[in-house]
Amino acid sequence: MRTVYLNGSFIPENEAKISIFDRGFLMSDGVYEVTSVIERKLIDFEGHFHRLERSLFELDMKNPLTKEVLLSIHKSLINKNGVNNGLIYLQITRGSAGDRDFVFPDPETTPQTVVLFSQNKENLLDSPSAISGIKIISIEDQRWGRRDIKTTQLLYPSIGKMMAKKVNADDAWMVQDGYVTEGTSNNAYIIKNGKIITRAKSNDILHGITRAAVLRFAEEAQMEIEERNFSISEARDAEEAFITSASSFVTPVVSIDGQNIANGSPGPMTQRLREIYLDESIKTAI
Ligand code: PDD
Repeated sequence: MRTVYLNGSFIPENEAKISIFDRGFLMSDGVYEVTSVIERKLIDFEGHFHRLERSLFELDMKNPLTKEVLLSIHKSLINKNGVNNGLIYLQITRGSAGDRDFVFPDPETTPQTVVLFSQNKENLLDSPSAISGIKIISIEDQRWGRRDIKTTQLLYPSIGKMMAKKVNADDAWMVQDGYVTEGTSNNAYIIKNGKIITRAKSNDILHGITRAAVLRFAEEAQMEIEERNFSISEARDAEEAFITSASSFVTPVVSIDGQNIANGSPGPMTQRLREIYLDESIKTAI
């Protein structure tokens, strides 16, 4: 059985209990992070920590834990649960004020809820989707307007994945005013005339930690990058397409709405970017 972390204690997962009045449960009033583990080491912990601080700040919440404490909890979970390859999930909510109320409780008297758990994923690096690519569909983006904050409001992304599953696809790209925002749990890219094209950062998308790293490594490798909007029809005619996230790294997209991208197999630039990303981030993993 897994050992999880809840509010200062490491306990078996079946003993970890939170209040029914927790605002994470009642209001999705919480933020989260997912950090990948490769060969027992954390990929880009620093980046995830900074985004966590930003998400908390944007929602007027304090960070209850220092970077050092948080890192040591991540490390303990890796050790206690023997995670070679997998993920560490972290969630911080505004806690429970002992009743349901839209108004935020007084942070001085309402402690936040902090939960971390690990997920073992032995085939994280060589998953079938990394090798053969994923099929995606396009759907309308019906999420709220602050997608740059990593909140636990994941109902629409979850519905999007179900819409994809229903038609034997793997995921969905969301579209707003004719342009792709991002995937349900990843950032979206196409390659055209040898250039990497991805939507610029704004409140419309999550500022992916993997996105930042991939764009940095691509620039260092002298690849051209254009941060701009693109449509589904442009994506369908692209040379390549891919997604990035902490759990999928760089994963090829091979078809959109049932139409193949190029010849329907993972593209060479995408494969190279995945290799560069993994090599470089494993070097600095902690
Ligand atoms: N999702 N966009 C959305 C909407 C996301 O939920 C995620 C991450 C990303 C990629 O961000 P990063 O590169 O920092 O993982 C983009 C995580 C993995 C999840 O919900 O499981």
